[in-house]
Amino acid sequence: MKKRNLAVVFGGVSSEHPVSCVSAKSVIENIKKDKYNIYMLGITRDGKWYLYEGDTALLPDDKWIDDKYIFPAFISPDTSVHGICVQRNGSIENIRLDAVHPVLHGKNGEDGTIQGLFQLAQIPFVGCNALSSAVCMDKACTNLIADNAGIKQAKWRSITKYNYDKNADAFLEEAADYLGFPIFVKPANAGSSVGISKAKDMPELKKGMEIAFKEDSKVVLEECIDGYEVECAVLGNNEPKASTVGEILPCNEFYDYEAKYIDGSTGLAIPAKNISEEKINEVRSQAIKAYSALGCTGLARVDFFVGKKDDEVYFNEINTLPGFTSISMYPKLWEASGLPYPDLLDRLAELAIEKGGKI
Ligand SMILES: Nc1ncnc2c1ncn2[C@@H]1O[C@H](COP(=O)(O)OP(=O)(O)OP(=O)(O)O)[C@@H](O)[C@H]1O
Ligand SMILES: [Mg+2]
Repeated sequence: MKKRNLAVVFGGVSSEHPVSCVSAKSVIENIKKDKYNIYMLGITRDGKWYLYEGDTALLPDDKWIDDKYIFPAFISPDTSVHGICVQRNGSIENIRLDAVHPVLHGKNGEDGTIQGLFQLAQIPFVGCNALSSAVCMDKACTNLIADNAGIKQAKWRSITKYNYDKNADAFLEEAADYLGFPIFVKPANAGSSVGISKAKDMPELKKGMEIAFKEDSKVVLEECIDGYEVECAVLGNNEPKASTVGEILPCNEFYDYEAKYIDGSTGLAIPAKNISEEKINEVRSQAIKAYSALGCTGLARVDFFVGKKDDEVYFNEINTLPGFTSISMYPKLWEASGLPYPDLLDRLAELAIEKGGKI
């Protein structure tokens, strides 16, 4: 069979740029080289695009940017190009692609913006379409749809900066009364726990609103769920499948950016060890329900809490391009469910091609 041309896009203008570069290294190293020609397309922190032909060892810490094997390049929105335009030795070359695998997290990667470009170009791509990506990125939109689909979650409130500034006290009093302290304060669009805080009283809540509004002009407040934190990997287009369920065993106050990526203080248990077999199955079915209600395709990691006291399953959030490093939950969950990492990557590209470029 003819090899397929697959671009892996990494980096990006996002606070999660460093994680993306680490995820991309694992992805590129594990893609089946007998089946795919890989084109590494890097986006710098300030938004410059390059085709990178150097060593994957230089991806972490952005060392690839200083390598001599980088060439200005971009994905053309022109459907007749159907791929990458690269500038090399003074001339422009077009590389036709069969699919794109965006290994980007957070803003400008997971939020529908780059998915819109792939859709314009009619190139098949791994993951959710622009609409679903945008909705899953925005915690207020996600929560609205989850409520509408009858998926149980923490009580919540949301407000824009403009409306908050008009009457902050009335909003905070009503929200505190409805949710009860402690309250989780989150920017609607951020990711990787950036701008999130847990408020124990009104002064902390006010401070938390300020922190969250630095990241986004819309903020979500949530009732605090005292529960085990569990995650499920979902894979597929029209008939999505759920993996086994994993559990986060945190050491910090909550599963924050430090715990996740920097100090390595977080342990994972696969399968989850503090919840029953029955709850594992309930999480799996709720994960598929959320995935379908939010219009996901390709993949997503769906996160839940299982209440320590009431044993109820609460949906928390959905990540349409979850972490993909060798220690990340999504690939580990599939590995534990019998799908090794290279086969998982192959399946993702196949799902993209199956869905096609004209969405
Ligand atoms: N309602 C809640 N009750 C209890 N803990 C919560 C709640 N919401 C968030 N948390 C804690 O805060 C962490 C970060 O919250 P959340 O997952 O919503 O943010 P995120 O920044 O989108 O994370 P991700 O990196 O997974 O995209 C959770 O992993 C959990 O530990
Ligand atoms: Mg999370």
